Amino acid sequence: MRRAIDLAARGLGHTSPNPVVGCVVLDERGEQAGEGWHRRAGGPHAEVEALRQAGDRARGGTAVVTLEPCNHTGRTGPCAQALLDAGIAHVVYAVADPTPTATGGAQTLRRAGVEVAGGVLAAEAAAGNEAWLTAARHRRPFVLWKYAASLDGRVAAADGTSRWITSAAARADVHRLRAQADAVIVGSGTARADDPHLGARVTGLTDTDVTQPLRVVVDSRASAVKPGARVLDGTAATLVAVAEDAEAGHLEGLVPLLRLPRAAHGPGLDITALLTALYARDVRSVLLEGGPTLAGAFLAANSVDKVVGYLAPVLLGAGPAALGGAGITTIDQALRLDVVDTRRLGPDLRVTAVPVRPEEN
Ligand SMILES: NC(=O)c1ccc[n+]([C@@H]2O[C@H](COP(=O)([O-])OP(=O)(O)OC[C@H]3O[C@@H](n4cnc5c(N)ncnc54)[C@H](OP(=O)(O)O)[C@@H]3O)[C@@H](O)[C@H]2O)c1
Repeated sequence: MRRAIDLAARGLGHTSPNPVVGCVVLDERGEQAGEGWHRRAGGPHAEVEALRQAGDRARGGTAVVTLEPCNHTGRTGPCAQALLDAGIAHVVYAVADPTPTATGGAQTLRRAGVEVAGGVLAAEAAAGNEAWLTAARHRRPFVLWKYAASLDGRVAAADGTSRWITSAAARADVHRLRAQADAVIVGSGTARADDPHLGARVTGLTDTDVTQPLRVVVDSRASAVKPGARVLDGTAATLVAVAEDAEAGHLEGLVPLLRLPRAAHGPGLDITALLTALYARDVRSVLLEGGPTLAGAFLAANSVDKVVGYLAPVLLGAGPAALGGAGITTIDQALRLDVVDTRRLGPDLRVTAVPVRPEEN
């Protein structure tokens, strides 16, 4: 199963709206006969790839798969049936499929006489598929908020300059996160200050190996993104989210606009409406790159699932803090996080944490 989980991870960034899935097929004697992973939406499922590699050796064998084999015919046929056709005798899976259309694969297999065991290394496999599982549960994309700060918690100097607070190693890591995300989001303040490009360049991978994320700028008044902005180049698709009533004639024909309602309270657009609209466009994971004001709005809307902070051993003394507002006014309202990982990246420290949800307090 651990091998299947590693295989599944190779699909990160390429499979939405589908999950990442890995599969290992063992022959009757328990020797590895085939392996596969879901490489891209519309392509063969992991089980089908692994069965193809195993050929006749699959008969009487075992399929080890990170997600319950699907039971429905989408762009490809049901995996449960493919496993039966190949003569698989045992199926071991990690995580049950929560989607109403695809669930029931285990039952179909059991009814046909296959011995099925679920829940094996379930927590590890679920962590590898956290974006897709979160999106399936909330019907909005998984949101990973990333920031790069000085040790005194600032994301820009007093004059607004922020290039570069962190090292090349930390910035390369951000490109890896971009390549794994379906969309990258920034606010109009960041678009105005930095004219960011938001494309993914991953060390060791060619451009064809990287699926570029959709670039999204949240620019209610359509005042930050100007013709010639780097985010409008041809590297990747871009969406500019503007208010329903925004005057955006200068962007017509230049970039697709996403018209959204304004936030019920405070500035900008309705964050829930933004995420719902992205979900409808098959976006299952979002890398929120700030800045602090927009990140505060996402946190206030309870729409951040994970935080990655890159902390550089540098002091700025003045300039914006990593997070603006977020609706927190007193210590009792502080949003507590659990640190799930820490790592040195060159001179910097990467801290990964998840919010402790109220029911877990
Ligand atoms: N080091 C880092 O990791 C990092 C990352 C990003 C940015 N930065 C720095 O942060 C600074 C920019 O940050 P910022 O806070 O000024 O800008 P921001 O968070 O990028 O953008 C804020 C703007 O987003 C728009 N917006 C749309 N919907 C919103 C909503 N629901 N709630 C709040 N705002 C919404 C608002 O403008 P409209 O109403 O006009 O749309 C708002 O003023 C720059 O200096 C940049 O270099 C640093």
